[in-house]
Parts: sequence; structure tokens; C-alpha cells
Amino acid sequence: MRILSGVQPSGRPHIGNYFGAMRQNIDLSHRSDAFIFIANYHALTTIRDRKLLSEYTDGLARDYLALGLDPSKCAFYRQSDVPEVCELAWILTTVTPMGLLERCVSYKDKVEKGIPADHGLFAYPVLMAADILIVKSTTVPVGADQKQHVEVARDIAIKFNNTHGNVFPLPEERILPEVSSVPGVDGQKMSKSYGNTIEPFEDEKALRKKVMSIKTDSKGVAEPKDPDTCNLFALYRLFASPAERDAMAARYRAGGLGYGDVKKALADLMLSHFAEARKRRAALTAAEVEAALAAGAEKARKVARETMAEVRKAVGL
Ligand code: ADP
Ligand code: TRP
Repeated sequence: MRILSGVQPSGRPHIGNYFGAMRQNIDLSHRSDAFIFIANYHALTTIRDRKLLSEYTDGLARDYLALGLDPSKCAFYRQSDVPEVCELAWILTTVTPMGLLERCVSYKDKVEKGIPADHGLFAYPVLMAADILIVKSTTVPVGADQKQHVEVARDIAIKFNNTHGNVFPLPEERILPEVSSVPGVDGQKMSKSYGNTIEPFEDEKALRKKVMSIKTDSKGVAEPKDPDTCNLFALYRLFASPAERDAMAARYRAGGLGYGDVKKALADLMLSHFAEARKRRAALTAAEVEAALAAGAEKARKVARETMAEVRKAVGL
């Protein structure tokens, strides 16, 4: 089994990304057959500011390393350091039926949100198929929103194998267990596009300020409160031990607890949860980050070159 997973550097990761995706990828990085990469070619479909793209790419690499991804065990790399994926994407595109891409809901959603309907956005799933197939990955852990893209990759692999001979194993998605959507400071799902995020690595003062701004109902201190409908509690429980969680739920129900105290306890828990990672991130040098990515690129490129040699031969290039 070979595992591959990619994350777009499309902003600064927040606590929703951490619980919903990054933590699982970090667990995977302890397996030698895992390929984990930063999808910066993909991010070009939405980020057209060179400074921002390189800042997000570098930031995401640092975040992963600080949060415990082990680059010596897996292949951790920047997509653009393996340019063979673009060559494969073109070859795959020649066997990709238009209808397959026209059915992709993610493309339609993005266009509805106002992202320009250019060819990069339309062909996004073909590049994703190239990421997966170039390392002959069989298992692709993704959030439910990416399931269709992995199905497209599988269909493209079948189409290629039928047209040019058997080169690719068929990849399967592994849907990450739904971390019931992490709420943002306004109570909606935490998302970069809603401006309601809390980031694990922002400075302590800013982090505390955001936690203090979490929306709650207007119940007074003395009143009993319901932890099950409170988004402050939903965030608290992510960081608390089971004993802390149960004790806090009991205090909610008993009354006499102000939301300000819960917020302070939450900020303390968050800071202690990320304390080690924050220290590691501050101590990471640019040279260490580059060395980790370079080593990962070398591992991934070796496999990519082997696959491309097979592909070129199969198609007659
Ligand atoms: P955003 O909505 O901030 O743009 P992305 O779409 O880039 O986030 O999300 C990347 C991954 O992070 C998703 O596939 C999903 O697994 C996870 N994720 C994002 N927001 C949340 C959230 N609020 N709760 C749980 N998981 C989330
Ligand atoms: N499209 C994925 C996302 O937005 C990122 C991605 C790019 C990816 N290539 C991939 C995920 C290959 C898994 C496999 O989350």
C-alpha cells in the first residue's frame, strides 16, 4: 500500500484544518510508504500573488514540521520540485474525456464562488490524478469534498491502462473520519473564506483576543448553560482531556460559570496544546526547512522518473 496526500498552500492553516486534515497527515508521515506534499501548482489556480504563494508554501512546510511531521520517515515535498507531474498531467489529459471533468462539482462550486473559470481550474482534477499516479499511489486519504477527484483519478488510470497498456495501479480514496466541523469564532464552520479562523501559530496576544471574541448566547453568569449547543464548548472539547471536558460540561449545567472564564480556560488549553509545536516552529531555520523538502523531493522524483520512463515508453514518446 502506498499512501499519498496533498494540501494546497492557499492560506495560513487554522484549527479546523489541523483537526480535519493535518493531524491525520502527520500520523501518516510515520510510515515509510507515505508521500505527503504541498500542492503549490494547484494553488496557482486561486493565488496569483507570487509573494503570498511562496509565503504560504513556506509557512505550510514549517507548520507541518513544527506539528511533528517526520520528514526522515516519509517523502515530504513541494509539488513544484517534482515537475514530472506536469508532464504526466499532459499525457493524462489526452485520455481524459471532457464529460468526466464537466461532472466535477468542485469546479462548479468554485466558479459559483466567483473564481475565474479558466482551464487550470477545469483541469485541476487531471493534475491531481498525475500527483497520485506518478508515485503509483494506491491509497489517497482525503476529506469527503475530494472524493470525486480521486474517483476521477481512478477513471483516468483505467482509461490510460486501456489505451496504452497496464501502467497504473488503481487508486482508492480513504475518506477521513468526519471531524464534526470545527466551528469558527462566529459559530459558522471555521473557514478561511469566512474570516472566522484561529491559527495555531499566531502570537499569544492575538490568539487570546480571538478566543475572547468567540460568539456565545447572552446568558448571565448565574444561569445554567447547555454545553451541547455552545460553539465555545465545541472548541473547548477538542483540546480538553475527557476528564476536563466532563468537568466543564457539569459546570455549564450547574450555573455560576461565566463564558469569559471558559474562554480563558480554552485559550490556556490551546496554548499548552501547541506549546511544543510553537517552540519548534520558532526554532526552525530556513536551511532546515529547505533540507527537509529537498530530501523529500529527491525521494519523490526518483519514483516519478521511473514512472515517467514507463509512461513515455507505453505511449511512444
Ligand atoms: P478552508 O475552508 O479554510 O478554505 P480548506 O478547504 O483549504 O479550508 O480545507 C482543507 C481541509 O481542512 C479540508 O479538506 C478539511 O478536511 C479540513 N477542514 C477545513 N475546515 C474545517 C473545519 N472547520 N472543520 C473540520 N475540518 C476542516
Ligand atoms: N485538491 C486537494 C485539496 O484541495 C489537494 C490535492 C492536490 C490532493 N493533489 C492531491 C489531495 C492529490 C490528495 C491527492 O484538498
